[in-house]
This record gives sequence, structure tokens and C-alpha cells, in this order.
Amino acid sequence: MLLKTNMSNILETKKSIYIKSYGCQMNEYDSNRIKDLFVDQGYSVSNNLEDASLVVLNTCHIREKAAEKVYSDIGRINKIKKKDNKKNFKLVVAGCVAQAEGLEIKSRAPSVDYIVGPQSYHNLPDMIGDSKKFISDDFLQNEKFKKLLYNTSNKTSEFVSIQEGCDKFCSFCVVPYTRGSEFSRPIQQILNEIKIYIKNNIKEIILLGQNVNAYHGIGQDGKSKDLAYLIEKISEFDEIKRIRYMTSHPIDMSDSLFKIHGNNSKLMPFLHLPIQSGSNNILKKMNRKHTVEDYIKIVEKIKNSRPDIALSSDFIVGYPGETDSDFDFTMKLVDEVKFVIAYSFMYSARPGTPAQKRNQIDLNVKKARLSALQSLLKEQQIEFNKSFINKKMEVLFEKKGRYENQYVGRTIYNQSVFGKSSNNLINKILNVDIVRSTDFALEFKT
Ligand code: SAH
Ligand code: SF4
Ligand code: F3S
Repeated sequence: MLLKTNMSNILETKKSIYIKSYGCQMNEYDSNRIKDLFVDQGYSVSNNLEDASLVVLNTCHIREKAAEKVYSDIGRINKIKKKDNKKNFKLVVAGCVAQAEGLEIKSRAPSVDYIVGPQSYHNLPDMIGDSKKFISDDFLQNEKFKKLLYNTSNKTSEFVSIQEGCDKFCSFCVVPYTRGSEFSRPIQQILNEIKIYIKNNIKEIILLGQNVNAYHGIGQDGKSKDLAYLIEKISEFDEIKRIRYMTSHPIDMSDSLFKIHGNNSKLMPFLHLPIQSGSNNILKKMNRKHTVEDYIKIVEKIKNSRPDIALSSDFIVGYPGETDSDFDFTMKLVDEVKFVIAYSFMYSARPGTPAQKRNQIDLNVKKARLSALQSLLKEQQIEFNKSFINKKMEVLFEKKGRYENQYVGRTIYNQSVFGKSSNNLINKILNVDIVRSTDFALEFKT
């Protein structure tokens, strides 16, 4: 009997999961949940694909390059499978490619054992126990959250998905098709999850959603509550010192959000508000439902409430039909608004989206526009970072850096900060002296 128990223990310890996340923070959150589900089943977490008995690729479908990366990774994994006596490890494709391509994945990559979408990955442990079911791509709103487990391997900051999916249907975007229609988690469910993180000493909560400011979860009184209400509730936890949220859509910026940016000191002065283009003509073609003027008005309102707010955005260049003058409008907008950081992409035609069928812009034109826009955005970022030299900044330290005694953290404006200290700074909030800035970060000296 004793021998039998020991044997089963040995077999148990062999179960290990390796998970790779592609794409956005919501995928990162989902990957953490997948890990938690399998840790509960006796798996250990492996940082090395070759040691794992279960390999999960949590994929992104937003641009062609991201989606194709999965197949080149599967190619590499197949080689490892062949080379080693690792034939037994199971390969799972999860996330947005799984949802968008479903069974097609199997015909392109027969070595894939299981396919699970972003709203049904909670079924994965059962699927692995049942050899008949290898695909789960249902859009079960809010179902997964009831079945998920919440733990944290992080020390300071934790993502919490509060809203999923999207009903906006921007004509370039796959998200409404990969994540399903929009829904919000109930307030109490979110607060309960945060309580778990508090037990693990987490100090910062980053609320996530593809349209996070459209949040409308049910409160304990049975009535719908907005994002500002949720932020207020979270800020009542003494242990939570910082709150952030992303990604917001301009049309969902509400008066309650403007207000709370002015009066809640735990809500960080940073807003990621994608505009995509500075041309009304292109915004209309993109089905964005807002104009450049609407966007500028929102910026004015948020600055009235919180004058030092740091703004960030997303841009797409080379959308079908974008002329030189449309692109000039984008440059003009960036010049006017000034972003502390921004993400910009060449338009990528995506299957099933309305814009895919439109006449595409020449690749060299796209490249030239992207390079011009990125130079301007980089200039603004450098300028912003420089303005903090010789100033004190409040930093939440998150982890060790690459060098000995080096620590890395974030300012209230979400800038990365690094520097050396002989004390352990992890999970501390400190006012430090900024002495230097690089293109993307600040350096402090103690
Ligand atoms: N929900 C967010 C963004 C989700 S996707 C929002 O509404 O803004 C993240 C970013 O990827 C988008 O803001 C957009 O800039 C970019 N993106 C989405 N689809 C794209 C495509 N087909 N080609 C290039 N970039 C794209
Ligand atoms: Fe995509 Fe538009 Fe929805 Fe954002 S709002 S996820 S860009 S469809
Ligand atoms: Fe990518 Fe899906 Fe996120 S397509 S950006 S992983 S919602």
C-alpha cells in the first residue's frame, strides 16, 4: 500500500505545465488562470517547454504576424517532440487563434491535441481527462469565472479581467469574433478575487477589459454599476494602493470616470485611450463611432479633472483608403495631444472583418507612415521622461532587474524605473530621486 502511494506521488510530480502567452494582458490573465487550474490538479509550472508534460500556447489573432507566430512555434515544438522521448506531452492551442480558426488548426497542425477558446478554457482539465473531447469554443458568458481559480505568483501587481468581449465591431478588428459579445463580471465576484490577491500582499490592481470603461456589472443591490463605482469599492481596501484600468474606448468615457480621476488618489493618473487615426474620414471608415473632435473634448475633460494625467493611445497606419492627407491629420493630432507612450501598427487585413475586402495600401507606404509616426511618438516619450530628471517620483517596485542589486518599478504615470539599492525594494512604494532618463525608462539613485 505504502509503495503504491509513493508510486502515484512520483507520477504526480511528473505532471508539469508550460504556458506561453501571446497578445494582450487579457491573455496574460487567462494564462495565469490556466496555470492555477492545473496547479490545483497537481501540476507544477515549468519555465522550460522541454520539461513539460502539457504545453499550452495562449494565442493572439489581432494581426497576421501574431497569428502566424503560433504555427512557427508549433513547428519548433514538433521538432522537440521528434528529437526527444517527449512524445507524450500534450499540446494545447488556447486563446484567440483557437477561437477564430477552430478545427482548421488541426488540419494545418495535426500535432495539436486540444483547442480551447478564451471563454471556455476552464473546460481544459476535464477535456484532458476525457480523450473524446478535443475542442471547446463556446461563448459562455461569465461561465468561466465561476469555475476558475485565483492565485498569484506576482508580488506587487495583479491583472483582473472585469469585462470581456466587444460589441463595437470596428471594421479592422477580430476581437468581437474571438472574445464574443460584451459582458461584465458582477461586482462582488471581482472584489472576492481581489481579496485573494490582498492575502498575497498585492498592492496594485490593473482592471482589464477590451472595453473596460463600458463596464456595467451587477452590484449587491441587483443594480448595474459602472467602472467608477467599482474603482471606488476597490479603493476601500487599505492594502490596495494603486488602481489602473485598460483598455478604454472613447465613446464610453463617462462623467463619473472624469470625476473619479480628480478625486480618488489611488486611481493612477494614466489613461490608455486608443484613437487609431487622426482623420475623421478614416475613423468613419473604421466604424469607430467617434470623431477627432470628440476625442479632443475627452482629453480636455480628463485634464480638467486631473491636469497631470499621462495619455497613451493606439494607432493604425495604412488602413484601406488612408491618403497622405489622412495620415497628416494623424501626425497633427499626435502633435496636438501629446502622448507619453503609444502603440502603433501597420494595418493588417484580418479574415472575417469588413475591412479585409477593401483595397489595401502599398506595404512601402505603410512602412514609411509607421516610421514617421513612431519617430514623433518616440520624441514625445523621450521629452516626457526627460522632464522628470532631478525630480522625486513615487515608485512601486515590482521585481529585480538584470544586474546585481538592481530593482525595477513603475511611477504613477506607468513609466518604468530602474536603479540599484542594497535594500530589498520589492513591493515597496518609495519616493526616489530620478537622475537620468533613457528612451523608455527612468533611472533613480538612492
Ligand atoms: N479594445 C481596444 C483595442 C484592442 S486591440 C480598443 O478598442 O482600442 C489592440 C490594438 O490593436 C488596437 O487598438 C489597434 O490599434 C490594433 N489593431 C487591432 N486590429 C488591428 C489590425 N487589423 N491591424 C493592425 N492593428 C490592429
Ligand atoms: Fe476591436 Fe474596436 Fe472592439 Fe476595440 S472597440 S476591441 S478595436 S472592435
Ligand atoms: Fe489578441 Fe485576443 Fe487580446 S486577438 S489582443 S489576445 S483579445
